[in-house]
Amino acid sequence: MKQFLIAPSILSADFARLGEDTARALAAGGDVVHFDVMDNHYVPNLTMGPMVLKALRDYGVTAPIDVHLMVKPVDRLVPDFAKAGASYITFHPEASEHVDRTLQLIREHGCKAGLVLNPATPLSILDYVMDKLDVILLMSVNPGFGGQSFIPGTLNKLRQVRERIDHSGYDIRLEVDGGVKADNIGEIAAAGADMFVAGSAIFGHPNYKKVIDDMRTELEK
Ligand code: DX5
Ligand code: ZN
Repeated sequence: MKQFLIAPSILSADFARLGEDTARALAAGGDVVHFDVMDNHYVPNLTMGPMVLKALRDYGVTAPIDVHLMVKPVDRLVPDFAKAGASYITFHPEASEHVDRTLQLIREHGCKAGLVLNPATPLSILDYVMDKLDVILLMSVNPGFGGQSFIPGTLNKLRQVRERIDHSGYDIRLEVDGGVKADNIGEIAAAGADMFVAGSAIFGHPNYKKVIDDMRTELEK
């Protein structure tokens, strides 16, 4: 398994040129496309659905696509995203009536499954589902918008989740989302994360490759 994965969040890409801009972020060194789905119900913003994901696949995007569902309810969208070409599907436990069932549903559809924990969501939600997780995503901002600042308390939470993963013996990615930049990615990795979502840091800079190279330099320190 590649040690560190950088996942450009296309929430901050140019939506009028989404295929091209996504391809640029991948050519610049991004490993995984982070695809934020917002429904104006679970979060106060509205973004994109399975048709947009399929359009990216049709455009020629072959990299893994990491679908972050900020929607309620969750289950009825899972088959559509799987069919459209999702690689990972993660969701917020507060948005699903039956967390265990939703995790199974995602794997049954051939995708890697994960839970997303908001800054105030306790870790106890992980207690009985570690065997059904391929990824745990810790939000380091409150979900809904790009461009927010990293909440420092996330570092401590990351350390605790890293311990749980290591003790579990399962092969589970630890992903972090929100306010990740070249100047804090080093301490985020040191706290245990191995998959890093970055939206505004990459797409808000004229040179995506420079940002991603700077991030890798920090990760190699
Ligand atoms: C926020 C989204 C994030 C967002 C991160 O709800 O889940 O993926 O794109 O954006 P930045 O990196 O700008 O904080
Ligand atoms: Zn996200």
